[in-house]
Amino acid sequence: MASFITPLILLFISAIFLFLHRRSRYRRLRLRLPPGTLGLPFAGETLQLISAYKTDNPEPFIDHRVHRYGPIFTTHVFGEPTVFSADPETNRFILLNEGKLFECSYPGSISNLLGKHSLLLMKGSLHKKMHSLTMSFANSSIIKDHLLVDIDRLIRLNLDSWSDRIFLMEEAKKITFELTVKQLMSFDPGEWTETLRKEYVLVIEGFFTLPLPLFSTTYRRAIKARTKVAEALTLIVRERRKESAKEEKKNDMLGALLASGNNFSDEEIVDFMLALLVAGYETTSTIMTLAVKFLTETPLALAQLKEEHDLIRAKKSHPEEPLEWTDYKSMAFTQCVVNETLRVANIIGGIFRRAMTDINIKGYTIPKGWRVFASFRAVHLNPDHYKDARTFNPWRWQSNSETTSPGNVYTPFGGGPRLCPGYELARVVLSVFLHRTVTRYSWFPAEEDKLVFFPTTRTQKRYPIIVKRREESRPSNQTWKGKEEESEIVD
Ligand code: HEM
Repeated sequence: MASFITPLILLFISAIFLFLHRRSRYRRLRLRLPPGTLGLPFAGETLQLISAYKTDNPEPFIDHRVHRYGPIFTTHVFGEPTVFSADPETNRFILLNEGKLFECSYPGSISNLLGKHSLLLMKGSLHKKMHSLTMSFANSSIIKDHLLVDIDRLIRLNLDSWSDRIFLMEEAKKITFELTVKQLMSFDPGEWTETLRKEYVLVIEGFFTLPLPLFSTTYRRAIKARTKVAEALTLIVRERRKESAKEEKKNDMLGALLASGNNFSDEEIVDFMLALLVAGYETTSTIMTLAVKFLTETPLALAQLKEEHDLIRAKKSHPEEPLEWTDYKSMAFTQCVVNETLRVANIIGGIFRRAMTDINIKGYTIPKGWRVFASFRAVHLNPDHYKDARTFNPWRWQSNSETTSPGNVYTPFGGGPRLCPGYELARVVLSVFLHRTVTRYSWFPAEEDKLVFFPTTRTQKRYPIIVKRREESRPSNQTWKGKEEESEIVD
Protein backbone atom coordinates (compact mmCIF):
# COMPACT_ATOMS: atom_id res chain seq x y z
CA MET A 1 0.00 0.00 0.00
CA ALA A 2 2.78 2.39 1.05
CA SER A 3 4.49 1.82 -2.27
CA PHE A 4 1.27 2.94 -4.00
CA ILE A 5 0.73 6.04 -1.82
CA THR A 6 4.27 7.42 -2.02
CA PRO A 7 4.18 8.14 -5.79
CA LEU A 8 0.72 9.74 -5.37
CA ILE A 9 2.05 12.09 -2.71
CA LEU A 10 5.04 12.92 -4.87
CA LEU A 11 2.74 13.62 -7.83
CA PHE A 12 0.55 15.87 -5.69
CA ILE A 13 3.54 17.79 -4.37
CA SER A 14 5.00 18.29 -7.85
CA ALA A 15 1.59 19.45 -9.17
CA ILE A 16 1.41 22.07 -6.41
CA PHE A 17 5.00 23.06 -7.09
CA LEU A 18 4.30 23.41 -10.83
CA PHE A 19 1.18 25.46 -10.15
CA LEU A 20 3.01 27.81 -7.78
CA HIS A 21 5.94 28.09 -10.14
CA ARG A 22 3.67 28.92 -13.11
CA ARG A 23 1.74 31.42 -11.04
CA SER A 24 4.84 33.20 -9.84
CA ARG A 25 6.29 33.13 -13.37
CA TYR A 26 3.09 34.63 -14.73
CA ARG A 27 3.11 37.25 -11.98
CA ARG A 28 6.72 38.01 -12.79
CA LEU A 29 5.89 38.32 -16.46
CA ARG A 30 2.78 40.32 -15.80
CA LEU A 31 4.87 42.89 -14.06
CA ARG A 32 6.89 43.26 -17.20
CA LEU A 33 4.12 42.95 -19.77
CA PRO A 34 3.59 46.07 -21.85
CA PRO A 35 0.85 48.24 -20.33
CA GLY A 36 -2.74 47.83 -21.49
CA THR A 37 -5.82 45.87 -20.69
CA LEU A 38 -7.04 42.41 -21.67
CA GLY A 39 -10.67 43.63 -21.73
CA LEU A 40 -13.59 41.29 -21.10
CA PRO A 41 -13.14 37.57 -20.45
CA PHE A 42 -12.97 35.68 -23.78
CA ALA A 43 -14.03 38.62 -25.96
CA GLY A 44 -11.13 40.79 -24.83
CA GLU A 45 -11.17 44.03 -26.82
CA THR A 46 -12.19 42.46 -30.14
CA LEU A 47 -15.50 44.33 -30.30
CA GLN A 48 -13.79 47.66 -29.69
CA LEU A 49 -11.33 46.82 -32.47
CA ILE A 50 -14.06 45.95 -34.97
CA SER A 51 -16.32 48.89 -34.17
CA ALA A 52 -13.40 51.34 -34.21
CA TYR A 53 -12.66 50.55 -37.85
CA LYS A 54 -16.22 51.37 -38.90
CA THR A 55 -15.47 55.03 -38.35
CA ASP A 56 -13.69 57.37 -40.78
CA ASN A 57 -10.69 57.78 -38.53
CA PRO A 58 -7.83 55.73 -39.99
CA GLU A 59 -6.28 54.32 -36.83
CA PRO A 60 -8.78 54.75 -33.95
CA PHE A 61 -8.04 51.58 -31.99
CA ILE A 62 -4.28 52.05 -31.98
CA ASP A 63 -4.32 55.88 -31.64
CA HIS A 64 -6.38 55.69 -28.50
CA ARG A 65 -4.15 53.08 -26.84
CA VAL A 66 -0.85 54.64 -27.92
CA HIS A 67 -2.05 57.89 -26.39
CA ARG A 68 -2.88 56.08 -23.13
CA TYR A 69 -0.14 53.48 -22.82
CA GLY A 70 2.65 54.36 -25.26
CA PRO A 71 3.71 52.72 -28.55
CA ILE A 72 3.87 49.15 -27.18
CA PHE A 73 0.75 47.93 -25.44
CA THR A 74 -1.09 44.77 -24.48
CA THR A 75 -4.59 43.92 -25.59
CA HIS A 76 -6.70 40.81 -26.22
CA VAL A 77 -8.18 40.39 -29.69
CA PHE A 78 -9.55 37.50 -31.75
CA GLY A 79 -9.39 35.15 -28.76
CA GLU A 80 -5.77 35.76 -27.76
CA PRO A 81 -3.70 38.16 -25.67
CA THR A 82 -1.71 40.23 -28.16
CA VAL A 83 1.07 42.79 -27.89
CA PHE A 84 0.63 45.66 -30.35
CA SER A 85 3.60 47.68 -31.52
CA ALA A 86 3.39 51.11 -33.09
CA ASP A 87 7.10 51.58 -32.55
CA PRO A 88 9.36 51.48 -35.64
CA GLU A 89 12.35 49.90 -33.87
CA THR A 90 10.23 47.17 -32.31
CA ASN A 91 8.56 46.50 -35.67
CA ARG A 92 11.96 46.14 -37.29
CA PHE A 93 13.09 43.81 -34.51
CA ILE A 94 9.99 41.65 -35.10
CA LEU A 95 10.50 41.55 -38.88
CA LEU A 96 14.20 40.74 -38.71
CA ASN A 97 13.79 38.02 -36.11
CA GLU A 98 11.31 36.03 -38.16
CA GLY A 99 12.07 32.34 -37.70
CA LYS A 100 14.40 33.01 -34.75
CA LEU A 101 12.27 34.68 -32.07
CA PHE A 102 8.98 35.07 -33.92
CA GLU A 103 7.09 33.00 -36.43
CA CYS A 104 4.22 33.87 -38.69
CA SER A 105 0.76 32.99 -37.50
CA TYR A 106 -2.39 33.11 -39.60
CA PRO A 107 -5.96 32.44 -38.46
CA GLY A 108 -7.32 28.92 -39.16
CA SER A 109 -9.68 30.12 -41.91
CA ILE A 110 -6.73 31.43 -43.93
CA SER A 111 -4.42 28.42 -43.45
CA ASN A 112 -7.09 25.89 -44.49
CA LEU A 113 -7.94 27.77 -47.65
CA LEU A 114 -4.37 28.54 -48.65
CA GLY A 115 -3.16 24.96 -48.38
CA LYS A 116 -0.24 23.76 -46.28
CA HIS A 117 2.40 24.26 -48.99
CA SER A 118 1.73 27.95 -49.38
CA LEU A 119 4.74 30.30 -49.08
CA LEU A 120 2.87 32.31 -46.48
CA LEU A 121 2.72 29.28 -44.18
CA MET A 122 6.12 27.74 -44.91
CA LYS A 123 8.82 27.93 -42.28
CA GLY A 124 12.55 27.34 -41.93
CA SER A 125 14.90 26.45 -44.75
CA LEU A 126 12.10 25.48 -47.16
CA HIS A 127 10.61 28.95 -46.72
CA LYS A 128 14.02 30.52 -47.39
CA LYS A 129 14.47 28.56 -50.59
CA MET A 130 10.96 29.17 -51.91
CA HIS A 131 11.02 32.84 -50.95
CA SER A 132 14.15 33.41 -52.98
CA LEU A 133 12.71 31.44 -55.92
CA THR A 134 9.63 33.71 -55.83
CA MET A 135 11.81 36.81 -55.58
CA SER A 136 13.83 35.65 -58.56
CA PHE A 137 10.70 35.52 -60.64
CA ALA A 138 9.42 38.98 -59.82
CA ASN A 139 12.66 40.97 -59.75
CA SER A 140 13.41 44.04 -61.87
CA SER A 141 15.28 42.25 -64.63
CA ILE A 142 12.45 39.74 -65.21
CA ILE A 143 9.92 42.58 -65.16
CA LYS A 144 12.06 44.61 -67.56
CA ASP A 145 12.81 41.81 -70.03
CA HIS A 146 9.61 39.90 -69.85
CA LEU A 147 6.69 41.01 -67.71
CA LEU A 148 6.41 44.72 -68.53
CA VAL A 149 5.14 44.06 -72.06
CA ASP A 150 2.35 41.85 -70.74
CA ILE A 151 1.47 44.21 -67.91
CA ASP A 152 1.11 47.09 -70.37
CA ARG A 153 -0.84 45.03 -72.91
CA LEU A 154 -3.30 43.53 -70.42
CA ILE A 155 -3.95 46.87 -68.75
CA ARG A 156 -4.62 48.44 -72.15
CA LEU A 157 -6.96 45.61 -73.10
CA ASN A 158 -8.95 46.13 -69.93
CA LEU A 159 -9.08 49.90 -70.28
CA ASP A 160 -10.42 49.49 -73.83
CA SER A 161 -13.65 48.15 -72.40
CA TRP A 162 -14.26 51.08 -70.02
CA SER A 163 -17.20 53.23 -70.90
CA ASP A 164 -19.28 55.77 -68.97
CA ARG A 165 -19.74 54.37 -65.49
CA ILE A 166 -17.37 51.79 -64.08
CA PHE A 167 -16.65 50.37 -60.65
CA LEU A 168 -12.98 51.08 -60.38
CA MET A 169 -12.26 48.60 -57.59
CA GLU A 170 -13.80 45.77 -59.63
CA GLU A 171 -11.88 46.73 -62.75
CA ALA A 172 -8.66 46.85 -60.74
CA LYS A 173 -9.34 43.39 -59.30
CA LYS A 174 -9.97 41.96 -62.75
CA ILE A 175 -6.75 43.45 -64.07
CA THR A 176 -4.75 42.17 -61.09
CA PHE A 177 -6.12 38.65 -61.40
CA GLU A 178 -5.47 38.46 -65.14
CA LEU A 179 -1.93 39.73 -64.72
CA THR A 180 -1.12 37.19 -62.04
CA VAL A 181 -2.52 34.29 -64.07
CA LYS A 182 -0.45 35.41 -67.03
CA GLN A 183 2.67 35.68 -64.90
CA LEU A 184 2.11 32.33 -63.22
CA MET A 185 1.17 30.19 -66.18
CA SER A 186 1.12 32.29 -69.37
CA PHE A 187 -2.65 32.26 -69.87
CA ASP A 188 -4.21 35.25 -71.57
CA PRO A 189 -7.66 36.40 -70.38
CA GLY A 190 -10.49 34.29 -71.76
CA GLU A 191 -13.37 32.08 -70.74
CA TRP A 192 -11.11 29.78 -68.69
CA THR A 193 -9.55 32.61 -66.66
CA GLU A 194 -12.98 34.20 -66.06
CA THR A 195 -14.44 30.91 -64.75
CA LEU A 196 -11.40 30.48 -62.54
CA ARG A 197 -11.78 34.04 -61.26
CA LYS A 198 -15.41 33.49 -60.24
CA GLU A 199 -14.46 30.49 -58.11
CA TYR A 200 -11.40 32.28 -56.79
CA VAL A 201 -13.50 35.23 -55.55
CA LEU A 202 -15.52 32.74 -53.45
CA VAL A 203 -12.29 31.41 -51.95
CA ILE A 204 -11.22 34.94 -51.00
CA GLU A 205 -14.58 35.54 -49.28
CA GLY A 206 -13.85 32.52 -47.10
CA PHE A 207 -10.70 34.16 -45.73
CA PHE A 208 -12.74 36.67 -43.80
CA THR A 209 -15.20 34.40 -42.11
CA LEU A 210 -15.21 31.97 -39.19
CA PRO A 211 -13.68 28.65 -40.30
CA LEU A 212 -16.72 26.67 -39.16
CA PRO A 213 -18.24 24.74 -42.09
CA LEU A 214 -21.29 23.75 -40.03
CA PHE A 215 -22.25 27.34 -39.27
CA SER A 216 -20.93 29.40 -42.13
CA THR A 217 -22.30 29.06 -45.66
CA THR A 218 -19.59 31.41 -46.91
CA TYR A 219 -16.89 29.14 -45.51
CA ARG A 220 -18.51 25.99 -46.93
CA ARG A 221 -18.77 27.70 -50.33
CA ALA A 222 -15.16 28.81 -50.10
CA ILE A 223 -13.95 25.27 -49.35
CA LYS A 224 -15.87 23.93 -52.38
CA ALA A 225 -14.52 26.70 -54.59
CA ARG A 226 -11.00 26.01 -53.35
CA THR A 227 -11.35 22.39 -54.44
CA LYS A 228 -12.51 23.50 -57.90
CA VAL A 229 -9.67 26.02 -58.28
CA ALA A 230 -7.15 23.40 -57.13
CA GLU A 231 -8.55 20.87 -59.63
CA ALA A 232 -8.31 23.36 -62.49
CA LEU A 233 -4.74 24.27 -61.56
CA THR A 234 -3.75 20.62 -61.14
CA LEU A 235 -4.84 19.90 -64.71
CA ILE A 236 -2.66 22.73 -65.95
CA VAL A 237 0.31 21.49 -63.91
CA ARG A 238 -0.06 17.97 -65.36
CA GLU A 239 -0.33 19.34 -68.88
CA ARG A 240 2.79 21.39 -68.38
CA ARG A 241 4.72 18.44 -66.98
CA LYS A 242 4.01 16.61 -70.25
CA GLU A 243 5.09 19.65 -72.28
CA SER A 244 8.30 20.12 -70.33
CA ALA A 245 9.12 16.44 -70.85
CA LYS A 246 8.97 17.28 -74.57
CA GLU A 247 11.34 20.20 -73.99
CA GLU A 248 8.54 22.76 -74.56
CA LYS A 249 9.34 25.39 -71.96
CA LYS A 250 7.39 28.51 -71.01
CA ASN A 251 8.95 31.46 -69.33
CA ASP A 252 6.65 31.79 -66.33
CA MET A 253 6.49 30.97 -62.63
CA LEU A 254 5.11 27.49 -63.24
CA GLY A 255 7.96 26.85 -65.68
CA ALA A 256 10.44 28.05 -63.02
CA LEU A 257 8.94 25.68 -60.42
CA LEU A 258 9.04 22.71 -62.77
CA ALA A 259 12.60 23.46 -63.82
CA SER A 260 13.87 24.13 -60.29
CA GLY A 261 14.96 20.51 -59.82
CA ASN A 262 13.00 20.18 -56.58
CA ASN A 263 10.57 17.50 -57.74
CA PHE A 264 7.61 19.34 -56.28
CA SER A 265 4.36 17.36 -56.15
CA ASP A 266 1.27 18.67 -57.97
CA GLU A 267 -0.26 19.59 -54.60
CA GLU A 268 2.79 21.60 -53.58
CA ILE A 269 2.80 23.55 -56.84
CA VAL A 270 -0.94 24.23 -56.70
CA ASP A 271 -0.79 25.51 -53.08
CA PHE A 272 2.17 27.65 -53.99
CA MET A 273 0.45 29.24 -57.02
CA LEU A 274 -2.80 29.79 -55.15
CA ALA A 275 -0.94 31.70 -52.44
CA LEU A 276 0.65 33.99 -55.03
CA LEU A 277 -2.77 34.68 -56.53
CA VAL A 278 -4.07 35.57 -53.08
CA ALA A 279 -1.13 37.67 -51.93
CA GLY A 280 -1.19 40.16 -54.80
CA TYR A 281 -4.92 40.40 -55.41
CA GLU A 282 -6.58 42.64 -52.81
CA THR A 283 -3.34 44.47 -52.05
CA THR A 284 -2.52 45.64 -55.57
CA SER A 285 -6.11 46.31 -56.65
CA THR A 286 -6.89 48.39 -53.55
CA ILE A 287 -3.78 50.45 -53.98
CA MET A 288 -4.69 51.07 -57.68
CA THR A 289 -8.16 52.28 -56.66
CA LEU A 290 -6.95 54.44 -53.80
CA ALA A 291 -4.24 56.08 -55.90
CA VAL A 292 -6.98 57.24 -58.30
CA LYS A 293 -9.16 58.39 -55.42
CA PHE A 294 -6.38 60.43 -53.79
CA LEU A 295 -5.39 61.94 -57.13
CA THR A 296 -9.01 62.89 -57.80
CA GLU A 297 -9.05 64.69 -54.46
CA THR A 298 -5.68 66.37 -55.09
CA PRO A 299 -6.06 68.10 -58.50
CA LEU A 300 -2.56 69.61 -58.45
CA ALA A 301 -0.99 66.17 -58.08
CA LEU A 302 -3.21 64.79 -60.82
CA ALA A 303 -2.20 67.63 -63.17
CA GLN A 304 1.50 67.02 -62.50
CA LEU A 305 1.07 63.30 -63.03
CA LYS A 306 -0.76 63.85 -66.33
CA GLU A 307 2.01 66.12 -67.50
CA GLU A 308 4.62 63.45 -66.75
CA HIS A 309 2.70 60.78 -68.65
CA ASP A 310 1.65 62.98 -71.57
CA LEU A 311 5.32 63.71 -72.07
CA ILE A 312 6.09 59.99 -72.31
CA ARG A 313 3.23 59.48 -74.79
CA ALA A 314 4.33 62.49 -76.84
CA LYS A 315 7.63 60.73 -77.56
CA LYS A 316 5.81 57.75 -79.04
CA SER A 317 4.78 57.54 -82.67
CA HIS A 318 1.51 55.78 -81.89
CA PRO A 319 -0.92 56.06 -78.95
CA GLU A 320 -0.90 52.30 -78.49
CA GLU A 321 2.86 51.96 -78.56
CA PRO A 322 4.02 49.87 -75.58
CA LEU A 323 5.85 51.30 -72.61
CA GLU A 324 9.56 50.59 -72.36
CA TRP A 325 11.57 50.05 -69.17
CA THR A 326 13.22 53.45 -69.73
CA ASP A 327 9.75 55.04 -69.75
CA TYR A 328 9.00 53.41 -66.40
CA LYS A 329 12.32 54.61 -65.04
CA SER A 330 11.52 58.17 -66.16
CA MET A 331 8.29 58.33 -64.09
CA ALA A 332 9.77 60.29 -61.17
CA PHE A 333 6.60 61.94 -59.90
CA THR A 334 4.63 58.72 -60.37
CA GLN A 335 6.98 57.04 -57.90
CA CYS A 336 6.15 59.78 -55.39
CA VAL A 337 2.45 59.06 -55.91
CA VAL A 338 3.05 55.32 -55.49
CA ASN A 339 5.07 55.85 -52.28
CA GLU A 340 2.51 58.19 -50.83
CA THR A 341 -0.46 55.96 -51.62
CA LEU A 342 1.32 53.01 -50.02
CA ARG A 343 2.12 55.16 -46.99
CA VAL A 344 -1.34 56.52 -46.27
CA ALA A 345 -3.56 53.69 -47.42
CA ASN A 346 -1.85 50.35 -47.39
CA ILE A 347 -4.44 47.65 -46.98
CA ILE A 348 -1.85 45.61 -45.03
CA GLY A 349 -1.90 47.66 -41.84
CA GLY A 350 0.69 45.41 -40.21
CA ILE A 351 1.64 41.82 -39.59
CA PHE A 352 0.88 39.19 -36.97
CA ARG A 353 3.59 37.00 -35.49
CA ARG A 354 3.85 34.59 -32.56
CA ALA A 355 6.64 34.74 -29.93
CA MET A 356 8.65 31.49 -30.01
CA THR A 357 10.19 32.19 -26.61
CA ASP A 358 9.92 34.84 -23.86
CA ILE A 359 11.21 37.99 -25.52
CA ASN A 360 12.54 41.06 -23.76
CA ILE A 361 12.20 44.29 -25.62
CA LYS A 362 12.30 47.91 -24.49
CA GLY A 363 12.02 46.85 -20.85
CA TYR A 364 8.96 44.65 -21.42
CA THR A 365 8.52 40.91 -21.81
CA ILE A 366 6.46 39.31 -24.55
CA PRO A 367 5.63 35.86 -23.17
CA LYS A 368 6.31 32.75 -25.25
CA GLY A 369 3.31 31.77 -27.38
CA TRP A 370 1.77 35.27 -27.35
CA ARG A 371 0.77 36.98 -30.52
CA VAL A 372 2.30 40.28 -31.58
CA PHE A 373 1.01 42.74 -34.13
CA ALA A 374 3.58 45.07 -35.71
CA SER A 375 1.53 47.99 -36.99
CA PHE A 376 3.09 49.59 -40.08
CA ARG A 377 0.19 51.94 -40.56
CA ALA A 378 0.52 53.43 -37.06
CA VAL A 379 4.13 54.32 -37.93
CA HIS A 380 3.28 55.58 -41.42
CA LEU A 381 0.64 57.90 -39.97
CA ASN A 382 2.66 59.19 -37.05
CA PRO A 383 3.40 62.95 -37.25
CA ASP A 384 6.73 62.32 -35.48
CA HIS A 385 7.91 60.60 -38.66
CA TYR A 386 5.94 62.42 -41.36
CA LYS A 387 4.86 66.04 -41.30
CA ASP A 388 1.04 66.31 -41.68
CA ALA A 389 1.12 62.55 -41.66
CA ARG A 390 -2.56 62.11 -42.44
CA THR A 391 -2.55 64.23 -45.57
CA PHE A 392 -1.89 62.79 -49.01
CA ASN A 393 1.14 64.72 -50.17
CA PRO A 394 3.19 63.01 -52.92
CA TRP A 395 5.63 65.94 -53.06
CA ARG A 396 7.07 64.91 -49.68
CA TRP A 397 8.91 62.14 -51.58
CA GLN A 398 10.69 64.53 -53.94
CA SER A 399 14.39 64.41 -53.28
CA ASN A 400 14.80 67.92 -51.91
CA SER A 401 11.75 68.00 -49.70
CA GLU A 402 11.54 67.46 -45.96
CA THR A 403 10.62 63.81 -45.90
CA THR A 404 12.13 61.59 -43.26
CA SER A 405 12.14 58.02 -44.33
CA PRO A 406 14.83 55.81 -42.90
CA GLY A 407 14.06 52.16 -43.65
CA ASN A 408 12.14 51.34 -40.52
CA VAL A 409 9.53 54.11 -40.72
CA TYR A 410 8.45 53.11 -44.24
CA THR A 411 7.62 49.42 -44.54
CA PRO A 412 4.57 48.97 -46.80
CA PHE A 413 6.01 45.67 -48.04
CA GLY A 414 7.22 44.38 -44.67
CA GLY A 415 10.86 43.36 -44.35
CA GLY A 416 13.27 40.67 -43.23
CA PRO A 417 12.92 37.08 -44.45
CA ARG A 418 9.28 37.60 -45.38
CA LEU A 419 9.73 40.81 -47.35
CA CYS A 420 7.00 40.90 -50.00
CA PRO A 421 8.42 39.19 -53.12
CA GLY A 422 5.95 41.17 -55.24
CA TYR A 423 7.10 44.63 -54.12
CA GLU A 424 8.69 45.67 -57.40
CA LEU A 425 5.97 44.08 -59.48
CA ALA A 426 3.24 45.90 -57.55
CA ARG A 427 4.99 49.24 -58.11
CA VAL A 428 5.35 48.62 -61.84
CA VAL A 429 1.72 47.50 -62.20
CA LEU A 430 0.49 50.59 -60.39
CA SER A 431 2.70 52.90 -62.46
CA VAL A 432 1.62 51.39 -65.79
CA PHE A 433 -2.01 51.48 -64.69
CA LEU A 434 -1.71 55.18 -63.82
CA HIS A 435 0.05 55.85 -67.12
CA ARG A 436 -2.68 54.27 -69.21
CA THR A 437 -5.50 55.70 -67.11
CA VAL A 438 -4.40 59.34 -67.06
CA THR A 439 -3.34 59.44 -70.70
CA ARG A 440 -6.53 57.87 -71.92
CA TYR A 441 -9.28 59.07 -69.59
CA SER A 442 -10.53 61.87 -67.47
CA TRP A 443 -13.04 60.95 -64.76
CA PHE A 444 -15.05 62.07 -61.78
CA PRO A 445 -16.70 60.12 -58.94
CA ALA A 446 -20.14 58.88 -60.05
CA GLU A 447 -21.81 59.47 -56.72
CA GLU A 448 -21.02 60.85 -53.36
CA ASP A 449 -17.70 59.26 -52.55
CA LYS A 450 -18.44 56.49 -50.12
CA LEU A 451 -15.11 54.77 -50.28
CA VAL A 452 -13.90 54.85 -46.70
CA PHE A 453 -10.42 56.15 -46.17
CA PHE A 454 -9.09 52.78 -45.11
CA PRO A 455 -11.25 50.07 -46.58
CA THR A 456 -11.07 46.68 -45.02
CA THR A 457 -10.31 43.72 -47.24
CA ARG A 458 -14.03 42.93 -47.21
CA THR A 459 -14.96 46.34 -48.43
CA GLN A 460 -18.15 46.55 -50.40
CA LYS A 461 -17.09 49.93 -51.71
CA ARG A 462 -16.36 49.75 -55.34
CA TYR A 463 -15.62 53.40 -56.13
CA PRO A 464 -17.88 54.07 -59.11
CA ILE A 465 -16.54 56.71 -61.49
CA ILE A 466 -17.71 58.23 -64.75
CA VAL A 467 -14.93 58.00 -67.32
CA LYS A 468 -14.49 59.96 -70.52
CA ARG A 469 -11.86 59.43 -73.15
CA ARG A 470 -9.40 62.27 -73.36
CA GLU A 471 -9.34 63.75 -76.88
CA GLU A 472 -5.60 63.89 -77.04
CA SER A 473 -5.29 60.16 -76.49
CA ARG A 474 -6.35 59.68 -80.13
CA PRO A 475 -7.92 56.23 -79.85
CA SER A 476 -7.09 54.14 -82.83
CA ASN A 477 -8.79 51.19 -84.47
CA GLN A 478 -5.47 49.65 -85.26
CA THR A 479 -3.80 47.40 -82.75
CA TRP A 480 -0.22 48.19 -82.09
CA LYS A 481 1.89 45.51 -83.70
CA GLY A 482 5.21 45.40 -82.04
CA LYS A 483 7.37 43.93 -79.38
CA GLU A 484 4.51 42.51 -77.31
CA GLU A 485 3.37 40.14 -80.04
CA GLU A 486 6.66 38.34 -79.81
CA SER A 487 6.02 37.50 -76.18
CA GLU A 488 2.38 36.58 -76.53
CA ILE A 489 1.61 33.05 -75.44
CA VAL A 490 -2.07 32.31 -75.97
CA ASP A 491 -3.77 29.34 -74.38
C1 HEM B 1 0.54 46.91 -53.20
C2 HEM B 1 0.72 45.61 -53.29
C3 HEM B 1 1.30 44.76 -52.20
C4 HEM B 1 1.50 45.02 -50.87
C5 HEM B 1 1.19 46.30 -50.12
C6 HEM B 1 2.09 43.84 -50.28
C7 HEM B 1 2.49 43.75 -48.96
C8 HEM B 1 3.05 42.62 -48.41
C9 HEM B 1 3.52 42.52 -47.06
C10 HEM B 1 3.49 43.63 -46.01
C11 HEM B 1 4.01 41.27 -46.87
C12 HEM B 1 4.69 40.72 -45.63
C13 HEM B 1 3.79 39.78 -44.86
C14 HEM B 1 4.48 39.24 -43.63
O1 HEM B 1 5.57 39.67 -43.29
O2 HEM B 1 3.88 38.36 -43.01
C15 HEM B 1 3.81 40.56 -48.11
C16 HEM B 1 4.13 39.23 -48.31
C17 HEM B 1 3.92 38.57 -49.50
N1 HEM B 1 3.55 39.13 -50.71
FE1 HEM B 1 2.99 41.02 -51.00
N2 HEM B 1 2.21 42.88 -51.24
C18 HEM B 1 1.76 43.41 -52.44
C19 HEM B 1 1.75 42.79 -53.67
C20 HEM B 1 2.16 41.52 -53.90
C21 HEM B 1 2.20 40.89 -55.20
C22 HEM B 1 1.83 41.55 -56.53
C23 HEM B 1 2.61 39.62 -55.01
C24 HEM B 1 2.81 38.57 -56.07
C25 HEM B 1 3.96 38.14 -56.42
C26 HEM B 1 2.85 39.44 -53.59
C27 HEM B 1 3.26 38.27 -52.99
C28 HEM B 1 3.53 38.14 -51.65
C29 HEM B 1 3.88 36.86 -51.02
C30 HEM B 1 3.95 35.51 -51.70
C31 HEM B 1 4.12 37.14 -49.67
C32 HEM B 1 4.52 36.14 -48.57
C33 HEM B 1 6.01 36.16 -48.39
C34 HEM B 1 6.46 35.21 -47.31
O3 HEM B 1 5.69 34.91 -46.39
O4 HEM B 1 7.62 34.80 -47.40
N3 HEM B 1 2.57 40.62 -52.96
N4 HEM B 1 3.25 41.40 -49.04
